[in-house]
Amino acid sequence: MNNATSQSAWEPDERLFDASALIEQQLRFALQYAVLAPSNHNTQPWRFIVDHDTVQVCADRLRALPVVDPFDRELLISCGAALFNLRVALSYFRLGYAITLFPSETDPDIVAHLKVSPNGRRDADLAGLFESMKKRVTTRAPFADEPVAEALQTKLVGACDAEGAMASCVDARSSRQAIADLIAEADHIQFADPRFRRELASWIHHAGSETACQRMGRQLVACSILPCLSSRRLFAYSTLVPEPLLHLSGSSKGRRCLFASQRCATTAKRG
Ligand SMILES: Cc1cc2nc3c(=O)[nH]c(=O)nc-3n(C[C@H](O)[C@H](O)[C@H](O)COP(=O)(O)O)c2cc1C
Repeated sequence: MNNATSQSAWEPDERLFDASALIEQQLRFALQYAVLAPSNHNTQPWRFIVDHDTVQVCADRLRALPVVDPFDRELLISCGAALFNLRVALSYFRLGYAITLFPSETDPDIVAHLKVSPNGRRDADLAGLFESMKKRVTTRAPFADEPVAEALQTKLVGACDAEGAMASCVDARSSRQAIADLIAEADHIQFADPRFRRELASWIHHAGSETACQRMGRQLVACSILPCLSSRRLFAYSTLVPEPLLHLSGSSKGRRCLFASQRCATTAKRG
């Protein structure tokens, strides 16, 4: 069970999992899937400390985003996403586990302590997410112009509920429009802040500029340039970016935006 033999750090091959290997090796194998989790600006703000059959999931606050996420809220959500992926992988590989959240009274950076244990928890439902977890990416394309089936909405809300989170589906067009307007306004405010633009720019890199093990930060091509904001945004671009993006901002439509505003576009387009 040698990770180096898999295609790449980002495409682990589950066929290489060896159920007869030491638990620590099995745990390390499963951790390859934890790091596929989403994270704000793709900062991947986590660290894993493995010791035999246990792992500490730690927040890496050196990768914090003090402007857009001043209280590390989204940083912790990202760590939670990594822990969730780990649970999916362990469940898929039929490994039971026990988790203690924030186990240390003195070190708030230890987000979770997980122990692999034959008698531990097994989530059959989570194992079924394994294939989707491998394929999951953040999509910034417009949503399909059709309502989400009621059964699927119920399933999504139930899945959040099972994890102690709250989700609700907003149907009324006027409510969706109100949310879209709020997001657009928030986006304008953020982009007017030079510190926000600087922070975002520092996490954007060009596709292909990273090494296989350093695919951090948001790729320029993945930044979702969408036509939904006013031309004031052009100012933001010109101070945000190095030249290649300047080229983008000047191209074709002119009225384009980066990042969170895409949610406003999709929200506004649905239904
Ligand atoms: C807590 C959190 C907040 C995020 N906020 C945004 C956001 O405001 N806008 C956006 O386009 N993507 C957002 N993302 C998605 C990340 O940019 C994305 O996960 C990251 O770039 C990695 O790409 P991937 O999800 O395709 O693996 C967020 C992700 C997380 C976990």
